[in-house]
Amino acid sequence: MKEILQELERRREIARLGGGQVRIDAQHARGKLTARERIDIFLDEGSFEEFDMFVEHRSTDFGMDKSKIAGDGVVTGWGTVNGRTVFIFAKDFTVFGGSLSEAHAEKITKVQDMALKNRAPIIGIYDAGGARIQEGVAALGGYAEVFQRNVLASGVIPQISVIMGPCAGGDVYSPAMTDFIFMVRDTSYMFVTGPDVVKTVTNETVTSEQLGGASVHTTKSSIADAAYDNDVDTLLQVRRLVDFLPQSNTAAVPEIECYQSVTEPDNSLDTLIPANANKPYDIKELILKVADEGDFFEIQESFAKNIVCGFGRIEGATVGFVANQPMVLAGVLDSDASRKAARFVRFCDCFNIPIVTFVDVPGFLPGTAQEYGGLIKHGAKLLFAYAEATVPKLTVITRKAFGGAYDVMASKHLRGDLNYAWPTAQIAVMGAKGAVEIIFRKDIADPGKIAAHTKMYEDRFLSPFVAAERGYIDEVIMPRSTRRRLAQGLRMLRNKDLTNPWKKHDNIPL
Ligand code: HXC
Repeated sequence: MKEILQELERRREIARLGGGQVRIDAQHARGKLTARERIDIFLDEGSFEEFDMFVEHRSTDFGMDKSKIAGDGVVTGWGTVNGRTVFIFAKDFTVFGGSLSEAHAEKITKVQDMALKNRAPIIGIYDAGGARIQEGVAALGGYAEVFQRNVLASGVIPQISVIMGPCAGGDVYSPAMTDFIFMVRDTSYMFVTGPDVVKTVTNETVTSEQLGGASVHTTKSSIADAAYDNDVDTLLQVRRLVDFLPQSNTAAVPEIECYQSVTEPDNSLDTLIPANANKPYDIKELILKVADEGDFFEIQESFAKNIVCGFGRIEGATVGFVANQPMVLAGVLDSDASRKAARFVRFCDCFNIPIVTFVDVPGFLPGTAQEYGGLIKHGAKLLFAYAEATVPKLTVITRKAFGGAYDVMASKHLRGDLNYAWPTAQIAVMGAKGAVEIIFRKDIADPGKIAAHTKMYEDRFLSPFVAAERGYIDEVIMPRSTRRRLAQGLRMLRNKDLTNPWKKHDNIPL
């Protein structure tokens, strides 16, 4: 009996070594952890329950029948993050470069099925060379099985991808269909085809980093939601994100103890808006002062910085913040900002996360670059996302809310539940200068008349009161009381019950 038990332990020891000590050492030498080390850091200590440790590939081509490694290049299972269940798979680069075989795919689809059936988030850790070349179409089929499950789980359970090494070919599409992608600076890269193929097809010479490194995907392509300095930092940040998310689309948002008063006024907010309406200020200051203990998890911080998106908590429960950023391009909405925020709003709506929107927006960015790039369709994405969202929507206009951007940014007309404005709000079709130059064009040569018209326009329109008179603004509030107002509003909206008409799915302007 003892020998049987020892045999299990012996087999486990071998499986845990993956591709062997030499390859583990090489992994460490590159500044990367192994798949198992990553899982251990990510999950609560001792909570990992592994599946399919002894699975091997079934390929016999190219001498593969003589080269089998228990686990076949991916470690799968489940565990907990601060006590809440998550499913996980981590590609093991030490085993055939983490490449995907038929058996490897079956291990992933097993945890995907388990995560969906048990309504818990799934986290995929990538460090892999794409399809197992020796397996041919069996690997391609395996990928498609994974992709299909990504799509079925989309909007039902949170799916998160963490890129911690190469991620090429078939490996990029599954992350692309998940909710969030995180990368590690300098050691991870993502591309459909690598530098060698690029050179052959387009004659372009690029390094892996230039083609698909973390800086590319966090600043240019917007494929990645954030990047961090090393494996440990990245995994701890993803744990932080998981803490904000509900288990599924039918679960409530997680709630933790809140130690910060929601009734205490924050007088510093009364002077956040500069006296000069054209001077910028940092909207993140408002977010940090409204969110519990200033804890804010920003999504896509380095892309389209003219809009800020991320998670925080108010009275212990998760909310999604969306805010125009006057510090960057005066907070204007352009194609990138619209796409970024639309995706975030839709995520929140999928997962019952109330949306708090801070508005200070001079309008949509004019110009051929934007129009040729499809601003109409990209802007419509954000409009569509806000309009279809049925979660509680609370909006505070801090300063400018001009033109179409007023409508788009969770206005009353798009079923905003609580629409507040600070006394400094200016809600109008456009700013005074543009407006006067159009409606008083005949007086353009007379500076005195133009000044008088401008003053009249400012007095009449550049305040929150015209909108408040119509009920488009529920209340003009003191900046210092913003956190209290939002907390009360969120409490009142807890049982909000709103459903859109039945449809197979909508047709958002992609
Ligand atoms: C089988 C692979 C492999 C693969 C790597 N290995 N990729 N084995 N299939 N796709 C093995 C290597 O043979 C090697 O084995 C070990 O993994 C480590 O690889 P190295 O090349 O030594 O490592 P490194 O120099 O760090 O380069 C990593 C790499 C490179 C950039 C990922 O290996 C690479 O370019 N691989 C091929 C990538 C690729 O073209 N994949 C197919 C994409 S097509 P030993 O035994 O020496 O340790 C695709 C189609 C799917 O995925 C489409 C679905 C939509």
